Amino acid sequence: MSDFKPTLTTIKDHTKELAEAEAGVAELAATRNNRWYPKYHIASNGGWINDPNGLCHYNGRWHVFYQLHPYGTQWGPMHWGHVSSTNMTNWKREPIMFAPSLEQEKNGVFSGSAVIGDDGKLRFYYTGHRWANGVDGTGGEWQVQMYATPDNDGLTSATKHGMIMDCPRDQVDSHFRDPKVWKTGDTWYMTFGVCSSDRRGQMWLYTSDDMVEWTFHRVLFEHPDPDVWMLECPDFFPLTDADGNEKWVIGFSAMGAKKNGFMNRNVNNAGYMIGTWEPGGEFKPETEFRLWDCGHNFYAPQSFTAEDGRQIMYGWLSPFVQPIPMENDGWCGNLTLPREITLGADGDVHTAPVAEMTGLRTATRDFGALRIPSGNEFIVADDAEAVEIEITLDLAASTAERGGLRVHATQDGAYTAIAYDDQIGRVVVDRQANALGDKGYRAAPLSDAELASSELKLRVFVDRGCVEVYVNDGKQAMSSYSYPTEGPRAIKLAAESGDLQVSSLKMHQLRSIGLE
Ligand code: FRU
Repeated sequence: MSDFKPTLTTIKDHTKELAEAEAGVAELAATRNNRWYPKYHIASNGGWINDPNGLCHYNGRWHVFYQLHPYGTQWGPMHWGHVSSTNMTNWKREPIMFAPSLEQEKNGVFSGSAVIGDDGKLRFYYTGHRWANGVDGTGGEWQVQMYATPDNDGLTSATKHGMIMDCPRDQVDSHFRDPKVWKTGDTWYMTFGVCSSDRRGQMWLYTSDDMVEWTFHRVLFEHPDPDVWMLECPDFFPLTDADGNEKWVIGFSAMGAKKNGFMNRNVNNAGYMIGTWEPGGEFKPETEFRLWDCGHNFYAPQSFTAEDGRQIMYGWLSPFVQPIPMENDGWCGNLTLPREITLGADGDVHTAPVAEMTGLRTATRDFGALRIPSGNEFIVADDAEAVEIEITLDLAASTAERGGLRVHATQDGAYTAIAYDDQIGRVVVDRQANALGDKGYRAAPLSDAELASSELKLRVFVDRGCVEVYVNDGKQAMSSYSYPTEGPRAIKLAAESGDLQVSSLKMHQLRSIGLE
C-alpha cells in the first residue's frame, strides 16, 4: 500500500454540478419554516447538513464548510456547503465548494479537513465515496482520499486534483475516511478512520514530504473496545496546560460502542482520550474514553489550530433518531457554537465557547440572587427566542432534588429542563416534557470537587430549536435539539422537591449571525 503514486490531474470544471446544488438548496430555502431555524448557529439555507469540514482561518477569514445534501432534508449524496466570517459572529454564505463530479466520489464528497502548507497556501483533503456495488450500501463502501486546492484566497472555489490514496481493500472492511493533516517536525502526517478487515476501529497514519504523495506509516491507534468497529472524523493534536505540560489528544466519533449507564447513550458517540505521542510511535492513551459533549445530539466534531494558537472545535448536532420535526421545514441540522479546547489544571480537556461569542449579546438583564421555594416557578422571560443565560446555583444552600431552568416552555405545558439533579449528582438536559421530537434525558458528570463546591456555574444557550449547556466554564458541555410548540417560549426557574438557591442569574439577548 505504500507504493501508490497519485496521478494528479487538474479537474476544475464542475460548475454544472455546483449550480444544480445551489438551485436545490434555494428551492428548499424558498419554503423554509423558521420556527426552529437557528438565529446564531450555522445551518444551511435549505437541505440537510452533517459534519463540519475544512475548518480554518485563512487570509483574515474564518471558514466553516459542512457536509451538505442540497436536494432534500435527509442525508444523501454529499457536497461541501460553506460560510465565512471575519469575527465568528457575523457569517456570510459562500458558494458550495464541492459537488460529486469524479468517479471516485460519485456517491459523495465526504468529510475532510483543510491545512495550510509551508508555502502559506491552503490544501483540502477529503474522502471520495462510492458504493462498492455501484448501487447502495449493501455491498459496502469504496472510499479513497482526495486532494484539492483553492482557486483564490477567498476560498470561493477550488480545483480538484483527484485521488491521492486508494483504499487497500483487502485490509479494510470498506470504511476508510475523514482525513486530518498536520505537521510535526519536518514531516506531514495524515490520519483517518478505518474499519480493519477484522472489524476493529482504527486510525491509520500516513506520512508525506510534499503533502501530495503519502506513504503508509503505521496504525496510530486501535480502539480498545472490540465492539467499536469504526472511528469517524478522527482528530489528533497537542495541547499544553498552564504549567507547560504537553499532551496529545485523540478525538473520534466511535461507532459500535454499547450503552453503559450514562455513557454512550447516543446512536454513535464522539469523544476523546488524552495521552502521549512521539513521531514514529503509536498514540499512548493515559485516560479512558470521555465524551466531548453529554447532550442528546453532539457528533462528528472537527478542530483546527488557529494562527493565534487556539484549538477551535465545531460539532454537528446530529438528529440521530426519529422523529425529526425540522426535516419537514426545508432544512435539517445545525452546528454547535465554536468551542475553544484547553487543557485544564485538573488534567482534563475543557471546551467553552470561544471568547468572540460574547459579541452576540445585545441586551442584558441581571436578576441577582433568587430563592425558589419548593414546587414553585419563577418566570425569567415570557418569550425568549435567542438568549444566553449565565446562572450560578448555590448547591450548599439548595435542598431541591432537582432545580434549574425550564426553557422553550410553551403554553401547552411542554418544556426542556436544564437543571442540577441532586439524586444523581449531575447536570441534566431533560426532554421528557417535550411535545415534539425525540425525548429522554442526558446527564453530565460533576467531579467530587465540583460537587463539594457550593457554586455550580451553567452557561446556557437557547436558540430557536436547540440548546447548548456549558458546565463550570466548559468542564462539560451538552448539546440537544429542543423543539418548542406554537406560541411564546418562556424561560422559568423551577425547584422540585426542595428549595433552589440561585446566587446569580443574567440573561443576554443574542443577535442573529446573519444566515437566516
Ligand atoms: C460522520 C460521517 C463521516 C463521513 C460523512 C458522510 O457523520 O459519516 O464519517 O465522511 O459523515 O456524510
